[in-house]
Amino acid sequence: MSVTVVGSLNEDVLVAVDRLPGRGETVVARSSSLAPGGKGANQAAAAGLLGPGVHMVGRVGEDPAGDRQLAALAGSRVNVRRVLRTAGTPTGSATIPVEEGSGENLIVVVPGANAALTAQDVDVPSVRDARVVLLQLEVPMAAVTAAARTARGTVVLTPAPPQPLPTELLARVDVLVPNEHELVHLAGAAPADRSPEELAALARSVSNGDVVVTLGARGALVVPGNGGPVLLQAPPPVPVVDTTGAGDCFSGALGQALARGTDLPEAVRHAVAAAALSTTGPGARGALPDEEAVELLLPRVPPATPV
Ligand code: RIB
Repeated sequence: MSVTVVGSLNEDVLVAVDRLPGRGETVVARSSSLAPGGKGANQAAAAGLLGPGVHMVGRVGEDPAGDRQLAALAGSRVNVRRVLRTAGTPTGSATIPVEEGSGENLIVVVPGANAALTAQDVDVPSVRDARVVLLQLEVPMAAVTAAARTARGTVVLTPAPPQPLPTELLARVDVLVPNEHELVHLAGAAPADRSPEELAALARSVSNGDVVVTLGARGALVVPGNGGPVLLQAPPPVPVVDTTGAGDCFSGALGQALARGTDLPEAVRHAVAAAALSTTGPGARGALPDEEAVELLLPRVPPATPV
């Protein structure tokens, strides 16, 4: 197997709003719809559409929402044999207002069965033998840490939602993929607009390994753990509909490229292209690209520039 994802599966409730509500504010939505989601499952779906050999390890409830998540992942060429069913607990869910026009969102997650994933659940061959193991933080930290301990391949961690990382987990991560907000949280720094140089310094303060900071519409910053040059990879221009799950697509595409033996800067270039395409449709998976679509877009992805 090439890529195994250990993480969450959710059913997303997408709510289309003219603008996102402020704290304490009520807004009236235009419409709502259900879509497959969960940071882990989104990563797996992205990786599955881009290449073969993708496995998912996680938990859903014994409910129709769980059936829908398994069917959606299988439809994205993901092996779901190690997604376990949890009796008496609903499948995880997320409520996501999405702003028309900008595609910006807010996300509130109810973990449900994701919270039942254990260290034993992840001690399996699909984690042990994968070339790349993708992790995020919507399942218990004990399971995430156990997966990193079990993995013999490259471990990629997206630290979302942000929370303190155990030393053992951080030591076992080869590539850390935070967004700006998550990086600032990990570094214990104050929120502020930061230059790429400042972000690279923060990245080096939190990890000795490779760090790739996702920057939304500004692309991604590659901070190699070996002290090599820091690179800024700009994204191609695309018409944005919904940014939900763009970071998940980025990590899934990055994992698939690394599993093929692509070097980190080129894998980031692929991931930036895939993530840009993923924002051109609704929900986390409404526009996940296949490899052909990414290859077609790559000539429009500018070369990375040294910072
Ligand atoms: O990153 C987007 C995802 O976060 C959504 O699919 C939602 O389920 C939450 O996990």
